[in-house]
Amino acid sequence: MSKFITFEGVDGAGKSTHLAWFADALRQRGHDVVVTREPGGTPLGERLREILLTQTMCIGTEALLMFAARMEHIEQVIKPALRAGKWVISDRFSDASFAYQGGGRGLDWDKLSQLEQWVHGDLQPDLTLFFDIPVEVARQRLRSPDNTRPSNSSLDRFEQEQADFFERVRAGYHKRVQENPQRYAVIDAVQSMDKVKHQLEKIVASI
Ligand code: TYD
Repeated sequence: MSKFITFEGVDGAGKSTHLAWFADALRQRGHDVVVTREPGGTPLGERLREILLTQTMCIGTEALLMFAARMEHIEQVIKPALRAGKWVISDRFSDASFAYQGGGRGLDWDKLSQLEQWVHGDLQPDLTLFFDIPVEVARQRLRSPDNTRPSNSSLDRFEQEQADFFERVRAGYHKRVQENPQRYAVIDAVQSMDKVKHQLEKIVASI
């Protein structure tokens, strides 16, 4: 049976590294896995991503473009894959809009709920892995020389935000988890890579 799994967390939480490992672990168990991301995941979505990560715009536009990219992603990629019995893992989904546009930028939560209802009222992830980490630790990781990116100048429009923005993003994620706790596995992302991997192994075994 197909499953839709999303990965979430503030920038620097390490979710993308763990996502690759998680997808491989599922493939080893014989699942047909599609890995995708937001904003993006389709040719149009990737063009919107480029705009979203580089262009200054008003908050409402930002939210609408995130959901526009998502609508395309759901119709072109996510639903067809699920219908074909595949497992879909998305690096971010609507929780990121609630956390970043809602929490971080202060956009009205109800407006986001309306967009969510319109764009995917009939679809929610079966499971969301939320990589939780104190903002200071995430920011150190983002700016660490171990980061594959050459310098701070390559940080995108969101990553360049200040600590208080990310505190609000993190609070936004916590609010989403509280609203619907059964959908989430909250991962303590401060732990070593090995410990996180061990936790993910358990999740893979349980699903
Ligand atoms: P991210 O997964 O962090 O990309 P990368 O790992 O390549 O840096 O996603 C890009 C940014 O988009 C991230 O800072 C969060 C932001 N974002 C939103 O603000 N709202 C959304 O709905 C989504 C999906 C992402």
